[in-house]
Amino acid sequence: MIQYYGCGSCHIIPGISGAAGLAGPPLSGIASRIYIAGVLQNTPENMMRWIENPKTVDEKTVMPNLGVTPADAADIAGYLYTLR
Ligand code: HEC
Repeated sequence: MIQYYGCGSCHIIPGISGAAGLAGPPLSGIASRIYIAGVLQNTPENMMRWIENPKTVDEKTVMPNLGVTPADAADIAGYLYTLR
């Protein structure tokens, strides 16, 4: 799903081939971070919210709304939380 939505065009994501983008922060260690994008507490609910709809959380963010479904956001968040 991470490859399907193209997250790797903007993020370095360990374990995802081709995910080497530099527009956004590397997602290595994301599970251990306190905040998401500097605006949300890092909880599973907030992670899904961010992945589904970053523009609603922070209207100025460069990260686009990619139309990620709630089920896919849950799966993606699950993977990101393995990156400690
Ligand atoms: C067009 C580039 C772009 C794409 C595509 C993109 N992002 Fe982002 N992402 C960003 C930027 C830029 C930030 C930094 C946001 C900020 O601080 O406002 C960010 C922030 C994040 C964060 C928070 C990182 C942190 O250090 O707090 C996560 C998690 C994230 N993105 C996941 C994803 C996922 C999952 C996808 C695919 C569904 C994705 N991104 C697609 C640009 C992108």
